[in-house]
Amino acid sequence: MKKIKIESEFEAYDDLKDLPQDIQDLMHAAFEARDAAYAPYSKFHVGAAIQLENGIVVKGSNQENAAYPSGLCAERTAIYYAGANYTDQKINAIAISAKAQNKETLTPIAPCGACRQAIAEYEVKQGQSIAIYFMGERGSVFKSDSLSNLLPFIFTQEYL
Ligand code: THU
Repeated sequence: MKKIKIESEFEAYDDLKDLPQDIQDLMHAAFEARDAAYAPYSKFHVGAAIQLENGIVVKGSNQENAAYPSGLCAERTAIYYAGANYTDQKINAIAISAKAQNKETLTPIAPCGACRQAIAEYEVKQGQSIAIYFMGERGSVFKSDSLSNLLPFIFTQEYL
């Protein structure tokens, strides 16, 4: 038996203003997207903004449904839109912000497992890492250079 140790590295910023201007702008786009969330059931609003290599920003928010599992997270709404509409564009970065309606959300909220798997697919597809920035409604921001820090033992097409 041998033990396998997996390390993940993140950068933690106290304030969005400590990040480069284009990332601040991207996170502000995520705030705008968050305001467009349709979340009458969870009252948990999430916004995601994707920066493509040509500079275009694609926004998505969580869209819920009375049949709960039919809803979709913000990150997948955004990344599937980017994949469907900008087929030849690589994704540089994704910024995510979450805000609960009934309490303050001050800790960085990472994407859920299904969204990690979806983002991972696009990293593999484009052969290039996607930087992930995530935060609550305000306060500190976490950054990872690649989705792989968030999802060890990633399932990819090479197994098929
Ligand atoms: N949600 C997201 O949009 N992204 C995540 O990564 C986690 C959860 C949404 C789904 C649902 O509409 C609400 O947040 C509560 O789970």
